[in-house]
Amino acid sequence: MDRSAPPPQELLEIAIEVARAAAATAYRMRAEGVSVAATKSTVTDVVTAADRAVERQITDELRRLRPYDAVLGEEYGAAARGDDTPAPVRWIVDPIDGTINYLYGLAHCAVSIAAEVDGEVVAGVVRNIHTGEEWTATAGGGAWREGRRLTCSTETDLGQALVITGFGYDPARRAHQARVLTDLIAHVRDIRRLGAAAVDLCMVAEGRADAYYEKGLAAWDQAAGGLVAAEAGLRVGGLKGLDPGPEMVIAAPPALFAPLHDRLAALDASGGP
Ligand code: IPD
Repeated sequence: MDRSAPPPQELLEIAIEVARAAAATAYRMRAEGVSVAATKSTVTDVVTAADRAVERQITDELRRLRPYDAVLGEEYGAAARGDDTPAPVRWIVDPIDGTINYLYGLAHCAVSIAAEVDGEVVAGVVRNIHTGEEWTATAGGGAWREGRRLTCSTETDLGQALVITGFGYDPARRAHQARVLTDLIAHVRDIRRLGAAAVDLCMVAEGRADAYYEKGLAAWDQAAGGLVAAEAGLRVGGLKGLDPGPEMVIAAPPALFAPLHDRLAALDASGGP
């Protein structure tokens, strides 16, 4: 088997096939009833049996289709490869982003799969488990949903911007995030907290909100959605010139990035626990 990385479009097709089957499993398991299997970082950071089963399914399927690739998943971390040659592709997987929504039967949750080559995300799919909405992107190939190319909002005034954000699971972190929000909310149109970062980024890519920011995202929360957002024209970055990462992810139309960034920086939004 060829060990080089295939073109982004080919990786996307694999990601879509695997994500659709995974979303079907998550949907079926939700219909059969869902309960908390364990807690992770805090008592409110839960994992369901479906998170685990869906990640296993995705990893097994990627292994079958792309045996030399690496897989990083939210629930099991880096999957064992049984091969010590460099992996041509690393798949970054969130089996269920929006686990709390999934637990409560709220429809804002998704399977997220991204393909990374040489440290750069080149393809990604986010598929809503309940509605079947599916957002895709390849590096340089645009962001898409159901055959429609996506472009972000053209809003230029932060005061008119609908901004999505999210909170971490750690109470001390949430308290800091709430303090930031208390100031920011007076300077934007309004705030939404929908509960699944991957989907949030795709909503912003479609212009269903103007901008997004959050501190504390893991790679699997933002890999696919971040590519969709960037390919829809959003500027995706961190604070003070840093790349988007655990300290901060901001996705905003080019004209909104600086005002949102500067306010968040002034509020020390990436600080605290
Ligand atoms: C969480 C969701 C949530 C965000 C949290 C994430 P999970 O992911 O994306 O919207 O605010 O930061 O941890 O735990 O549901 O996969």
